Amino acid sequence: MYTSRGEDFQRDEAIRNASLSAMLFMLAAKDKGWDTCPMIGFDPDKVREILNIDEQYEIALMITIGKEKVSSRPPRGYRKPVTEFVTYVE
Ligand SMILES: Cc1cc2nc3c(=O)[nH]c(=O)nc-3n(C[C@H](O)[C@H](O)[C@H](O)COP(=O)(O)O)c2cc1C
Repeated sequence: MYTSRGEDFQRDEAIRNASLSAMLFMLAAKDKGWDTCPMIGFDPDKVREILNIDEQYEIALMITIGKEKVSSRPPRGYRKPVTEFVTYVE
């Protein structure tokens, strides 16, 4: 199925799967006392070169990991309540 649907579909699917894994990684890290941030603001070609990543792999995102400096935490902006954009259907 993946080969017959073309390269765009394969790339989309790689990013879908990587994003699910990334989310799980971030939640697991939090559970172990670490803080993380997903990032896309980097040069993927440079990262590929530096880390010697083969062309067959798609670079979906980068995750920073460390300990949050709580003292410089900015005030949280407004976040929509989940009920505003999720509907449960029985
Ligand atoms: C897909 C995605 C990509 C992001 N890329 C960057 C990035 O390149 N640089 C950056 O400073 N923050 C980036 N962010 C935002 C940070 O990961 C983080 O969410 C933000 O600093 C707010 O942190 P907070 O949610 O803990 O307040 C990105 C967020 C997402 C969801």
